[in-house]
Amino acid sequence: MQSLLIKAPAKLNLGLQVLGIRSDGFHSLESVFAKISLYDSIKMELTLKASEIKLECTGVSSPADKTNIIWKAAELFLLKTGYKSKYGVSISLHKTIPSPGGLGGGSSDAAAVLLGLKKLTGDSIDLMSLGEQLGSDVPFFLLPEETAFVEGRGEKLKPVFVPNFFCVLVHSGENIPTPMAFKLWDELQGGLTKACNISDYTALKFGAWHEGKPFPVRLDNDFLTLLLNRFPSMAWTVKELSRLTNNWGLSGSGPTFYALFRSQSEAIEAEAHLSGKFPWVCRCQSR
Ligand code: C5P
Repeated sequence: MQSLLIKAPAKLNLGLQVLGIRSDGFHSLESVFAKISLYDSIKMELTLKASEIKLECTGVSSPADKTNIIWKAAELFLLKTGYKSKYGVSISLHKTIPSPGGLGGGSSDAAAVLLGLKKLTGDSIDLMSLGEQLGSDVPFFLLPEETAFVEGRGEKLKPVFVPNFFCVLVHSGENIPTPMAFKLWDELQGGLTKACNISDYTALKFGAWHEGKPFPVRLDNDFLTLLLNRFPSMAWTVKELSRLTNNWGLSGSGPTFYALFRSQSEAIEAEAHLSGKFPWVCRCQSR
């Protein structure tokens, strides 16, 4: 059977505001998502063992069982398309994107599996509704565009223009699963989060991204104050990044931070400065 190798990119959140809690327990967000050149690799092929899913994982630790979002994506695709009675899927994941990292690695893997299976089967199913069922960030990774203004739970997407950038990512090793970060927001919102100023995003909504500035209007992330309060050691990461540039931010619900640069040489210099000070440092760029 034909096999397919897909690269699943990570994303950065260029600013993130949590607007409130919804009746379904999820939170309404506003953020700009940007895909970057850091990838998980996924090899997949259909097998003739009806409804059997095989998953092998290497690299960054990831469960090779039905708790993995990749498994859920394959299962959902086979079920909704009816191929379950005919085919199984064999998948090899090589994971590079830290997890949990705030970089959307799992969601991107799930989107890559849906896109890959659609290609392998030639089915015409609309993947967006499957993506929404799998996770809030999956719809973004199903978009062909590299950058989008994201609202709602993560399913309302408007492509926006973001200038190209080089970036250095740092992860100082804290374990912050996404539900934990949202729980902190539930407990402490109003006390610690910055007041939202939605009008800051108005320019974006109309496609005027940088208003003459080299980078986005704001990179503020509502999780930052909450996480600094819970993990005081993160303040050191902020200090180190602030020494290099004002264009730094926290991605998603953390714990990965990023610094943005206009030129590759600035990014190489920053990488040299940060390497050895953090358990994980990675230089990459916008796509
Ligand atoms: O949708 P996803 O599985 O990525 O979400 C993981 C967890 O993060 C959810 O169970 C929920 O606790 C929280 N979440 C949220 N609001 C969002 C996205 C995620 O509350 N918009």
